Amino acid sequence: MAAGNTDRRLAIAIAVTGASGAVYATRTVAALLERGVHVELIVSDYGRRLLRDELGDAASVEQFVPFLLEKYGAGVNEGTLNIHSNRDLGATIASGSHGCSGMAIVPCSMKTLAAVAHGLSRNLIERAADVMLKEQRRLVIVPRETPMSLPQLKNMVLCAEAGAMILPAMPAFYQQPKTLDDLADFIAGKILSALGFDHDLYPPWTGQAR
Ligand SMILES: Cc1cc2nc3c(=O)[nH]c(=O)nc-3n(C[C@H](O)[C@H](O)[C@H](O)COP(=O)(O)O)c2cc1C
Repeated sequence: MAAGNTDRRLAIAIAVTGASGAVYATRTVAALLERGVHVELIVSDYGRRLLRDELGDAASVEQFVPFLLEKYGAGVNEGTLNIHSNRDLGATIASGSHGCSGMAIVPCSMKTLAAVAHGLSRNLIERAADVMLKEQRRLVIVPRETPMSLPQLKNMVLCAEAGAMILPAMPAFYQQPKTLDDLADFIAGKILSALGFDHDLYPPWTGQAR
């Protein structure tokens, strides 16, 4: 997997924030890479903490590529990955002129949700999300919190009204998942579908449970 800037291939931005569900992020990034996508990755400070807290020190941002290779296999070498500092508001993806066709914030904290809902653009995650909305490109927000307050619910409505897709981290059980990775596959598959990718991360519904 080559690191570096995007070539002419499809580019997708993935933002990881400090909500529970780091495995949803790693599965989503791996699945995009397996499909030859160029991924522009931004991880917030608390996103970095959650990656390590939930998946272990091997999943630190500094070790992200070896972690993906170890967990998901050599297929991730099909894509390319560029990691940005969340403080770099001068990064390529802070501009609508960048060719990123879509973005997912996975998992999305209630703090970042609020910032996107109100267009704050204080860091690169918030700015890149704002760019997606103003350019009318696909923005997938994967919120994770329970229960939810009225302000949090209203912030989701604001984002949906602005054109984002709200895709809660709510795995289904009718596929009879056996492992945590099966649950992560389901959410990653939903995200890939929302971004316009075909995938086989979960079997299509056939009309009855397996
Ligand atoms: C272990 C841990 C788990 C957390 N889980 C959640 C969560 O599921 N949802 C959420 O909205 N915030 C959660 N938080 C709080 C956020 O990390 C916190 O609001 C942070 O400021 C979010 O910043 P960010 O959006 O820039 O990552 C958690 C924090 C910690 C330390």
